[in-house]
Amino acid sequence: MRDHSSAFAQRGETLLDVSALRADTPGCDSVIHFNNAGCGLIPRPALRAMHDHLDLEAGIGGYEASAARAEEVRDFYAAVADLLGCGPHNVAFAGSATHAYSKALSAIAFEPGDVILTTRNDFISNQIAFLSLRRRHGVEVVHAPDLPGGAGVDVEAMAALMRARRPRLVAATHVPTNSGLVQPVAEIGRHCRELDLLYMVDACQSAGQLPLDVTEIGCDLLTATCRKFLRGPRGSGFLYVSDRVLRAGYEPLFIDMYGARWVEPGAYRPVETAARFEEWEFPYATLLGCAAAVRYALQVGLDPISHRTPALGDRLRDLLAAVPGVRVLDRGPRPAALVTFAVSGWEAEPFKRALDAHRINSALSLREFAQYDFADKDVAWALRLSPHYYNTEEEVDQVAAVVADLVTHPPSRR
Ligand SMILES: Cc1ncc(COP(=O)(O)O)c(C=O)c1O
Repeated sequence: MRDHSSAFAQRGETLLDVSALRADTPGCDSVIHFNNAGCGLIPRPALRAMHDHLDLEAGIGGYEASAARAEEVRDFYAAVADLLGCGPHNVAFAGSATHAYSKALSAIAFEPGDVILTTRNDFISNQIAFLSLRRRHGVEVVHAPDLPGGAGVDVEAMAALMRARRPRLVAATHVPTNSGLVQPVAEIGRHCRELDLLYMVDACQSAGQLPLDVTEIGCDLLTATCRKFLRGPRGSGFLYVSDRVLRAGYEPLFIDMYGARWVEPGAYRPVETAARFEEWEFPYATLLGCAAAVRYALQVGLDPISHRTPALGDRLRDLLAAVPGVRVLDRGPRPAALVTFAVSGWEAEPFKRALDAHRINSALSLREFAQYDFADKDVAWALRLSPHYYNTEEEVDQVAAVVADLVTHPPSRR
């Protein structure tokens, strides 16, 4: 792969070689893909890694193929470690971010009365998991309040709740699914470290979009998926487990022959590394595709990505905000590239279908995804557009023009 970030720096921004990046991205020829928060377009090196491995499995056998690619398999852990600023032994592969999250939650021996302290913008499946723990184990789920105007969680109020309630777990989602809000995960982490509280971060929407450093964030556990801004394949994710948590002996409730040794008939011993959160069977082609995608993101560079991707989101937001009948919903000082907005005159599905007809990929966010946030914003649904660094300014302008045309001519006036 060429070095796409060798381009020049100007006014503090590193410019990327967008044409080369698009040439690496077959999907750019067919669609305007503004659904990177759903699933990014896979770049050629990641595709190649997967095709090659499937060919090898077909050619020599699945077990033999993974043995032959042991070094590349190991590089998945090294690549994610480079992405997060940790060691390879702190990384576990998972089938999805949710898979990683539930494995991590299952390692916490919750007791009745334990508190989970979270935010009003944590991911829907995490919130459901907390409610399930409430139902089964009698934990109390406490939501820290937001700052006035909904500009993210009020960290001081959250810290006061940490001191008053001594939660068993503090959980925060870096960037939620339902808006471009970026939560101050490192500020929250500073309080968790000071108070020695277990802290888990959902970095599903920030991995591949914003730099992540687990030491700076101060988290014990961090989950992400590979298919979104990291541009890896579907069905893959990872879990970061801190040394502190490994040393303290946390292990998933269901641990298998890969995560543990069966040392005598009545006893098992978890392995030393985060592999204790994995299982014996892996989708190796997928894992190798993830490794290639993570290496690709690192080579493009998280600094230039974190300038360009949110900047494309800002451009889109500004254009949409000027359209009568569009209400942009994202809050917070420096939003990520998840642009959400409500429109007048349209129902959700027909509006999305109208964009599909222009070959513009988008996603719907429903009230159910964001019970607190969408109630505060008084919306039943929002359209989410999420560009990435390989999208162009021209695409942004074109998408904004299509939205403006649709909103100016709703179905009732066609
Ligand atoms: C913030 C956030 N967390 C977690 C997830 C779940 O990821 P996965 O589908 O890989 O389990 C998503 C998916 O949209 C998300 O946006």
